[in-house]
Amino acid sequence: MSIAEKYTDEIQAIFAKYPVKRSAVMPLLYLAQRAEGYITKGAMAEIADLLELDVTEVAAIVGFYSMYHDEAAGKYRMQVCTDLSCALRGADAFLENLCQNLGVKVGETTPDGLVTVEAVMCLAGCDKAPMFQLQQGDQVSYHENMTVDKTMELVEALRKSSKQVDE
Ligand code: FES
Repeated sequence: MSIAEKYTDEIQAIFAKYPVKRSAVMPLLYLAQRAEGYITKGAMAEIADLLELDVTEVAAIVGFYSMYHDEAAGKYRMQVCTDLSCALRGADAFLENLCQNLGVKVGETTPDGLVTVEAVMCLAGCDKAPMFQLQQGDQVSYHENMTVDKTMELVEALRKSSKQVDE
C-alpha cells in the first residue's frame, strides 16, 4: 500500500501546513519511515512524485540526515560519530574495537537482530568523543565519553530488557 493510501489524512494535514510543496519533504519522510522503520525506495519515489521533486533530491536528504534510514536495521541503531573532531579523540579506534566485540562490521546488525552499528557525521558532541546516538524508533539517546567496555555493558542491558519485553 502506498503512503498516500495509508496516511491520506495525515498527508493532507502536512500539505495544509506547507504551502510550498517541497517544504513538506521532511515530514513526509518521517511518515514513510514510521511505516517501515526505514524509507523504502518506493516511498522515496512516491514522495518525489507527490512533491514534484527529483527522486535523487529526496534520496540526498535521506542520506544527509542520520535520523532517516534507507535500509532496515536491528532493534537499535548505534550511530557512532567518526567526523573529524571525534576522529581526533579516537572515534575510529573505538568503532573498530566495538565492532570486533560485537562481531559485526560497520553497517551490520548483530546476529540476534539487536544492534546495527553505523558511522555517522557530526552529532554536536564533538568534545565528548567517543560518542554515539542510540535510536529505537522515535526515541534517541546520546552516549558521550564512551569506552568499548561501557558500550558493551549498555548492549548487554539492552539485550536483557529486550528479552524481558519479548517474554
Ligand atoms: S565531530 Fe563528532 S560529534 Fe561533532
